Amino acid sequence: MDLSDMRLDYSEGELRRSSLRDDAWEQFALWFDQACEEDVHEPNAFSLATVSADSQPSLRTVLLKYFDQNGLVFFTNYESNKAMEIAANNKVSMLFPWLTLQRQVIIKGGAVKVSAAESLKYFLKRPKDSQLGAWISRQSSVISSRQVLESKLAEIKARFTKGDISLPPFWGGFRIEPQSFEFWQGGESRIHDRFLYTKDEAGSWGIERLSP
Ligand SMILES: Cc1cc2nc3c(=O)[nH]c(=O)nc-3n(C[C@H](O)[C@H](O)[C@H](O)COP(=O)(O)O)c2cc1C
Repeated sequence: MDLSDMRLDYSEGELRRSSLRDDAWEQFALWFDQACEEDVHEPNAFSLATVSADSQPSLRTVLLKYFDQNGLVFFTNYESNKAMEIAANNKVSMLFPWLTLQRQVIIKGGAVKVSAAESLKYFLKRPKDSQLGAWISRQSSVISSRQVLESKLAEIKARFTKGDISLPPFWGGFRIEPQSFEFWQGGESRIHDRFLYTKDEAGSWGIERLSP
């Protein structure tokens, strides 16, 4: 397979200024629903970019758990690399690659920790195995073997034989408060449609078409 010959024509849809919602959240909700309806694999998976103190960007996949006009929320370990980078610089970028629809959405904004009460509310909804998993993982730290995790799991299971599994103090959510949303729809002959929504100081959204 010659990679340089790999290309698709994009003809799934088109995006016109006249069809856009005025509110970026409404446009995002519309596309998110369509990604769910069209069986995009894990439509809530997105790439999260953070930047280190020495300006090195890092990416990883995380799962969006809910969103509303206040922001988009994901959950993670507060001692992980991503959380450490957010603590020093809360500017992040998120990318939803809805490639079966020939779409991507890129969001830029600031990440803030959600309250412990909000994290607990979501934690209690998680299956028991996922709750235990949150306890055992010192996410992003170096470990000598898988055995370390298995021993830790046995230890945590023994600790929580009865009653609810408590919220680990080092685990919780971040809410990303967007400053901009970009909606990209692949077009024929590489004439793709891109629209950038930017929030002004009054909180309303300006919309501009970008060159592909
Ligand atoms: C499909 C998928 C979903 C994931 N969801 C999450 C998630 O919601 N939260 C999380 O902390 N890590 C999630 N991960 C793992 C992250 O990609 C990453 O490995 C981990 O968070 C450590 O990242 P860091 O070292 O940059 O902090 C997911 C990975 C994949 C492939």
